[in-house]
Amino acid sequence: MVTSNPALDSLGGYPLARLQDLAGQLRADGRPLHDFSIGDPDEPTPPLIRQALVDAVGAVSRYPTAAGQPALRQAIADWFERRHGVTVDPDRHVLPSAGSKEAVFHLPLAVLDPGGPKRHVLWGDPGYPVYGRGATFAGGISDPLTLRAEDGWRLDLAALDADRLDRACIAWVNHPHNPTGATADVGWYREQLAVAREHDILLASDECYQEVWFDQPAPSALEAADGDLTGVLAFVSLSKRSGMTGYRAGGIVGDPELITRLRLLRPNVGTAPPDFVQVAATAAWNDQAHVDDRRAVFAAKRDVILPFLEEVGVEVSGSQATFYVWFRAPGGDDAAYAEALLGERIVASPGRAFGPGGQGWLRLALVPTVTGCQAAVDRWREAIAAGRLPG
Ligand SMILES: Cc1ncc(COP(=O)(O)O)c(C=O)c1O
Repeated sequence: MVTSNPALDSLGGYPLARLQDLAGQLRADGRPLHDFSIGDPDEPTPPLIRQALVDAVGAVSRYPTAAGQPALRQAIADWFERRHGVTVDPDRHVLPSAGSKEAVFHLPLAVLDPGGPKRHVLWGDPGYPVYGRGATFAGGISDPLTLRAEDGWRLDLAALDADRLDRACIAWVNHPHNPTGATADVGWYREQLAVAREHDILLASDECYQEVWFDQPAPSALEAADGDLTGVLAFVSLSKRSGMTGYRAGGIVGDPELITRLRLLRPNVGTAPPDFVQVAATAAWNDQAHVDDRRAVFAAKRDVILPFLEEVGVEVSGSQATFYVWFRAPGGDDAAYAEALLGERIVASPGRAFGPGGQGWLRLALVPTVTGCQAAVDRWREAIAAGRLPG
């Protein structure tokens, strides 16, 4: 009998996998399914990006390097300058990643000492499960902080006692936030960074929803660093910005010492994006028009969903940015409401899938088209009117 990694046994399956299985079973009968479960919208990848990839597929295929192509690092640096007004050196401050998920997962392997006193990883619950899971697989301790609606779903490092902070090596922040869609301003990042630095904690900012904003552009944690990137890293991605979830293209930007350490670590893992993906990623970072178009599409979907929830008296919280809408479960039980919605062939994620802090809430990912959102709303409204769903 081969042995097993206790970290894997303790975690079980990936939380949203079960929901995907259920949705898959429902889809199999061929009738329409309104699937709002997974953050992978239906909109096509812009043609200029697809073409760049196709043109870059050569006769010979070589291993990509961990440092990535200079043109890609430059494109990411240029985007940071344009979008956030932050100047970074493409050689010292930037590394490409194969999407941001693997970069998030692997970060603790570069900074966490499993035998040392600082092996806790802080993150907000509800949240993206990979922060805690990456900590556990690296031999550290996942240390979730419960987020609350009344705090705008933002964590507050200053509210933690010093012992808890001193045990931590990484604090993950993520705004715009999955699953709540909550945003944060530069002042908030500044406060978190000050506490993190005081306690020698790396502030790791997951910024994969940076371009999916509606009222005002979402800031980066690097803006709060005021030119000194020590102790802060931003994790960026083209998945949501450019409709490239399948390409696996992201990047890590920030503290030059940490970037050096990651450049040492990452060839061991072998997760550099393939060269043709890097070429497509460079084209994507260098173009802004498609991003603005995508944002307009998500805004149109929100304009279908948000007024409907208001009309039927469902409380929405967060939801200022991202393509997620976060709402309180009518009746209070998110799992029961998700199941009742499934009966209407509407798939929403129960908040508890993102940690106990999500109980009582549900997340809609605005994946279907605008017409698809409208069809789902019609079905939902009819189910409430017929008494099949609580209003
Ligand atoms: C909060 C958050 N971080 C990171 C990711 C990973 O994105 P990707 O690996 O596609 O860049 C996701 C994906 O849904 C996410 O929701």
